[in-house]
Amino acid sequence: MSNIRRSIRRKRAIKEIDNIKPMSKTYMTIATLLDDPLISAEKLEEELKYDPLATAEILKIANSPYYCGASGKIKTLQMALTRIGNKQLKDIVLIKMSESHLKEEKGYSERENEFYEESIASAVFAKLIAQKVGEDQNLAFECALLHDIGKIVLGRLLADGKEDIEKLLASGKTSFDKLESEYFGITHQELGKMLLKKWNFPEEFIKTAELHHNPETKEYDKLILVVSLADLLVKLSGLSTSADGLYYNADNSVAKRLGLSDEDIIQIIEQGTADFLDLKESLHNKSI
Ligand SMILES: [Fe+2]
Ligand SMILES: [Fe+2]
Repeated sequence: MSNIRRSIRRKRAIKEIDNIKPMSKTYMTIATLLDDPLISAEKLEEELKYDPLATAEILKIANSPYYCGASGKIKTLQMALTRIGNKQLKDIVLIKMSESHLKEEKGYSERENEFYEESIASAVFAKLIAQKVGEDQNLAFECALLHDIGKIVLGRLLADGKEDIEKLLASGKTSFDKLESEYFGITHQELGKMLLKKWNFPEEFIKTAELHHNPETKEYDKLILVVSLADLLVKLSGLSTSADGLYYNADNSVAKRLGLSDEDIIQIIEQGTADFLDLKESLHNKSI
């Protein structure tokens, strides 16, 4: 019987993907335009004119100490392009693009916006790790930002099955890391892969979502290792308190495979935590 229940829940989880609203078209278009290093501010403004708040929202993050430092306020998209560049601007657009989705997740988190903050912390950590190991820093940032996106699907269903799930965990018959496959017959990795495929994200994003808990893959192996380690270090840093917390394997084989020493890891945790705090205020501060 439990097998039948599991396959019903699996089907429900997959069906739930259809109930998730698509990502914002404006931000998606802007993100694509920003792939061109020669993109002009006029072109971006043209695209953003139907969404007047979006420019202000992008500039708010661009003005955080993380991006802007102490070198004076960035007032226009032109200034943003010159000062922080198209690649970092794309990172910011991706934060805004996924914000409402990441903020909605409540199933795994205990406090408001926890999942959103955790995803951004992973992105910030991944960028630092990528810098150390010679991987694309912006791609690592963006893939890490969305690596757990599948949790928004299961998060919706976790709330409904809360009593059953708590009983199951209390009985000691399963642990949180096995809960997804044992109860729902599907993991957040698989759902993340499906969701990002549906939204036409590039292959690197899809593979990272699919494989970040099994970084043994050969394809995009370095990028997946980077995101996998970022995920782990955010947990070790204490910035993450989500329910599945440290259930995933916390050995240091990923760091070793990337050639990072204990010293490097300590440095990344310290710098990553400071960087995240530099960015955090601009994510919640309503005033622009
Ligand atoms: Fe995950
Ligand atoms: Fe994660």
